[in-house]
Amino acid sequence: MIDALGSVGSLLLVGGTSDIAAATARRYLRERPLRVVLAARDTPRRTAVAEELAAAGARVEVLDFDADDPASPARMVAEAGGGGDIDVAVVAFGQLGDAEQLRTDPDAVAHLAQVNYVVPAVVGTELANRMRGQGHGVIVALSSVAGERARASNFVYGSTKAGLDAFFSGLADSLVGTGVSVLVVRPGFVRSKMTAELADAPLATTPDAVAEAIVTGIRAGRHTVWVPGVLRWVMSGLRHTPRAIFRRLPV
Ligand SMILES: NC(=O)c1ccc[n+]([C@@H]2O[C@H](COP(=O)([O-])OP(=O)(O)OC[C@H]3O[C@@H](n4cnc5c(N)ncnc54)[C@H](OP(=O)(O)O)[C@@H]3O)[C@@H](O)[C@H]2O)c1
Repeated sequence: MIDALGSVGSLLLVGGTSDIAAATARRYLRERPLRVVLAARDTPRRTAVAEELAAAGARVEVLDFDADDPASPARMVAEAGGGGDIDVAVVAFGQLGDAEQLRTDPDAVAHLAQVNYVVPAVVGTELANRMRGQGHGVIVALSSVAGERARASNFVYGSTKAGLDAFFSGLADSLVGTGVSVLVVRPGFVRSKMTAELADAPLATTPDAVAEAIVTGIRAGRHTVWVPGVLRWVMSGLRHTPRAIFRRLPV
């Protein structure tokens, strides 16, 4: 249960090896010990994150989760819920994809849409069902400013995030009155494993900054947060920029 001060007793990280997900667990662990369920593919990185969070005071449970396995979302949520209530679930798995390949390869497009949109929507539905049953909980969805207006340079990724963002924003409204809420997080460029090969974009930020925005956003009862916050106003301007100008912008 989230206590009166907003501290969390149990945290489910779906895509638990994500740098943003791990940073969110570390941020909560600064407040109090908690149960952390790491749902991720079975990799050395999963073991390393589990060990790191246990050393920081977490009671860590590790579950298999693979977005390429259609049976995985239902099994993972049932197993996570079997160990007790889930206060906060962070839906963090995702892929950037190879923008060049995605321009021409229909199979790659279908796969990215599956991993970044279809499976998050399935996981969100499973989580909402479980949390409705327990009568409380917060679902955090990692969207992106890339979904607010798709750019030619990575429009497939942007379109998957637009779909994810619309799904979780609508899910939030559908859950009003149930005790369950949704926080949609729209980071800009975050220096994580995902972007390790890329040069920083303007207003680049860190997994720790995204984690801080998640924790304070939940505590404040927000529905949407941009990271950094100024991106809300930048994106508001870009959304209304005429297309002929927008497509020439070096962003
Ligand atoms: N980094 C950015 O600039 C940025 C900006 C905006 C939004 N986001 C979003 O934030 C979320 C977290 O990203 P991050 O920056 O923390 O990157 P990250 O460290 O690369 O995390 C992404 C995670 O997704 C997992 N994943 C990928 N495909 C999977 C699959 N088929 N099944 C299960 N797990 C899978 C990976 O797990 P494995 O360890 O198994 O590979 C990886 O740990 C993503 O949804 C991303 O799109 C990131």
